Amino acid sequence: MSEISSILVIFGGNGDLTKRKLFPALYNLLSQELLLNNFAVVSVSRTKMTDEDYITKMKESIKEFSRFEYDESVFKELKKRVKYISFDFSSDEGYKNLKLELEKLDSIYKTDGRRIYYLAVAPEYFRIIVEKLKLHKMADDSGKYRVVIEKPFGKDLHSARCLNETITEAFSEKNIYRIDHYLGKEMIQNIMVLRFANFFIESLWSNKYIDNVQISALETVGVENRGGYYDSAGALKDMVQNHILQLLTLVAMEPPVRLDTESIRDEKLKVLKSLMELTPEYIKDNVVRGQYDEGYINGVKVPKYRDEYRVKHNSNTETYVALKLFVNNYRWDGVPFYIRTGKRTNRKLTEVVIQFKNMPKILYYNENKNIVPNVLVIKIQPDEGIYFQFNAKEPGSVSQIIPVKMDFCHSCIFGGNTPESYERLLLDSLKGDSTLFTRWDEVEYSWKFVDAISTLWLNESIDFPNYKAGSIGPKEAENLIKRDNREWWSR
Ligand code: BG6
Repeated sequence: MSEISSILVIFGGNGDLTKRKLFPALYNLLSQELLLNNFAVVSVSRTKMTDEDYITKMKESIKEFSRFEYDESVFKELKKRVKYISFDFSSDEGYKNLKLELEKLDSIYKTDGRRIYYLAVAPEYFRIIVEKLKLHKMADDSGKYRVVIEKPFGKDLHSARCLNETITEAFSEKNIYRIDHYLGKEMIQNIMVLRFANFFIESLWSNKYIDNVQISALETVGVENRGGYYDSAGALKDMVQNHILQLLTLVAMEPPVRLDTESIRDEKLKVLKSLMELTPEYIKDNVVRGQYDEGYINGVKVPKYRDEYRVKHNSNTETYVALKLFVNNYRWDGVPFYIRTGKRTNRKLTEVVIQFKNMPKILYYNENKNIVPNVLVIKIQPDEGIYFQFNAKEPGSVSQIIPVKMDFCHSCIFGGNTPESYERLLLDSLKGDSTLFTRWDEVEYSWKFVDAISTLWLNESIDFPNYKAGSIGPKEAENLIKRDNREWWSR
């Protein structure tokens, strides 16, 4: 059992994230007996509701989204610790009441004033909530208070800096937990282990042996009901600035001196600092954007992006990005990193592909057309695992060579029901471990990189839509890699 003694205050307690992720995660943690007695949850939202109505709603969400079968006794444990409070996030009266409630719960659960404020709200409320918490003396840097912030952390470098200033006035950096749910994914956490606990892998992990790296995060879903947010963000800010660059840091980082939070973050930051500088000319040639047209996903017709709910009919927001970049440091000099992410593509797939260099073109190369490069594929989702492709002799033939795979299937060995990202991240924030959360300077350098692209795009017209829903993506993304005589590994 972990040492947790705190009250979790969820702002946005009636929102989608709370229903789909946070409450199911709390329930899952309780099912595994990972939450101790000194723990309670206060959900804050603007909608008026009784505790009873609220918890009934959460029960339905748990039934729908928890990875464990519903168990009334576990739910009862959770239910008795939940309190629902409604007020407008700018109301001083509301914070006063909240404070009183929290003090009452402190004495019941012996939480000694410790709080975790989870901001599961739209970004426009981040600032006001933090300011009010400080004003009402419910936040300081004593170490009793932590804040967990959902993305987007700003919409560009400037706004991210302003937001950070406001937050750091109330909380010190070590108590700020900027969540990136990709870091909670099982196979993403496995990347460091794979690299730094395996001699043969780490010793090949450089420009001496690696030809290129491909990072893909493709989805079949569209923007769903999030058009209002997404239309002002787009794939670059929604996925590349955070998830993809974080993933890239884990692939490219140097071994940290120790496995503690700051040592790991220091190495990740160095990768972000080594990202190439993007000139307008480079961006024009090496960054591709796309927007989906209507099409078919699993045989079902879906609308084009511009017809989605709360999306402008002439929107130029990208739903797909592909780019080539270089990490300009000693280890990676000259190795292209190809990145692609998009909505409404032909499949759900998140993976990292490490393609090794070709063998010298002698011996078997002369006779064999089948020789393929060695690749190591880290499968993040929907399948979790790792495979290594190599060349072997075809049985019975004298010299025919065929590609074969060594496949580690994570779910076959450990079972398919791996912890959800939010389970891990919520537990870490309750325990006070911020390793899997992004430090401010990481956010800052990621925005610097992304801003160079988005400011250029602002002033350039584009002919959208340019790929069909259910297709592999825009043809320009294919050309981006083909012109280097390479291909996306998964299609
Ligand atoms: C979110 C993005 O952060 O990640 C969404 O805002 C995206 O647009 C989602 O769909 C993808 O997450 P996952 O875990 O399904 O790959």
